[in-house]
Amino acid sequence: GQATTILGIETSCDETAAAVVRRHGNGRAEILANMVRSQFDEHKAFGGVVPEIAARSHVQYMDHIVAQALAEAQLSFADLDGIAATAGPGLIGGVLVGLTSAKAMAYAHGLPLLAINHLEGHALTPRLTDGLAFPYLLLLVSGGHSQFVLVKGVGQYERWGSTIDDALGEAFDKVAKMLDLGMPGGPLVEEWAQKGDPDRFSFPKPLLKEKRLDFSFSGLKTAVRLAAEKLAPLSDQDVADICASFQATILKILDNRCRLALARFEAEFPDQRPRFVVAGGVAANKAIGQLLKDLAIEYEAQMVVPPIKLCTDNGAMIAWAGIERFNLGERDGPDFQARPRWPL
Ligand code: KG4
Ligand code: ZN
Repeated sequence: GQATTILGIETSCDETAAAVVRRHGNGRAEILANMVRSQFDEHKAFGGVVPEIAARSHVQYMDHIVAQALAEAQLSFADLDGIAATAGPGLIGGVLVGLTSAKAMAYAHGLPLLAINHLEGHALTPRLTDGLAFPYLLLLVSGGHSQFVLVKGVGQYERWGSTIDDALGEAFDKVAKMLDLGMPGGPLVEEWAQKGDPDRFSFPKPLLKEKRLDFSFSGLKTAVRLAAEKLAPLSDQDVADICASFQATILKILDNRCRLALARFEAEFPDQRPRFVVAGGVAANKAIGQLLKDLAIEYEAQMVVPPIKLCTDNGAMIAWAGIERFNLGERDGPDFQARPRWPL
């Protein structure tokens, strides 16, 4: 077969990202460039991502980051087979900047456009990093999503469960905010948790007795807030203990849910060793990663945890999803509309 080289653009949240990925004729994937510009400092003072600031910042850095990615890959537009961009779900202003830029570049250089679902980017990343075969069980945990998805093929996703309130990353971020840890919330909670006592507080584990594969984190979040209010003003040890107890509770919830999901996978594919994958920003959490690796060993599952840089938002996953869809003959037109909400 022939090689496929795609430029991928990601702007659905607070990272302006562009990457060039090539799939060689023998199937091997190669990341030729993966540039990510975080807008972290622009949003820091507000304690969260401000959509209007994000969109303006994407506009300001888009051309630059694309030029950087092409330079790093030592390629020009003429070397590309197509341009892929996140078309949703996400903050609509940012998505519009990335998608519209991609449309303009595709038109100007006579290249096909691929409008990518951001979640599909996360979902297919284990194929970019490890060439994982279908079908596999995906635990997708990011700032906006927490779901189990059975990935049967490109574009073939079966949702087995999701959150009925907050996303897991969102719960980490809100706990960080309550405790005044600053941004980015998830990694800071993880850092504090390492210094704390995971058994000091007993927080609720909603839905744990139910057999459906859904999550609920808002009751847990409220319990953390009440504990923090009761102890105020908090010592450093209090903060560490709350973080440790919160994270330990999350681990118990994930352990329970993943066991159910793995059992279901085994029941649906009795002749196949389970394949189990975690994607999305929360996959960067080392304690969660370890739990999932232990579960994989217990279930004799083939497990993939992509490197952190490819778990959090990036352009390479969008370029890769573009390659997968391109190779199936899919193309999108210049009339493709950005979608603020777009379930897998
Ligand atoms: O996938 P992602 O980069 O962006 C979305 O598409 O949402 O995920 C970001 C989320 C944030 O909520 C962040 O706090 C969380 O992932 N996160 C973590 C860690 N690193 C990032 N949560 C817990 N522990 C971490 N180490
Ligand atoms: Zn994401």
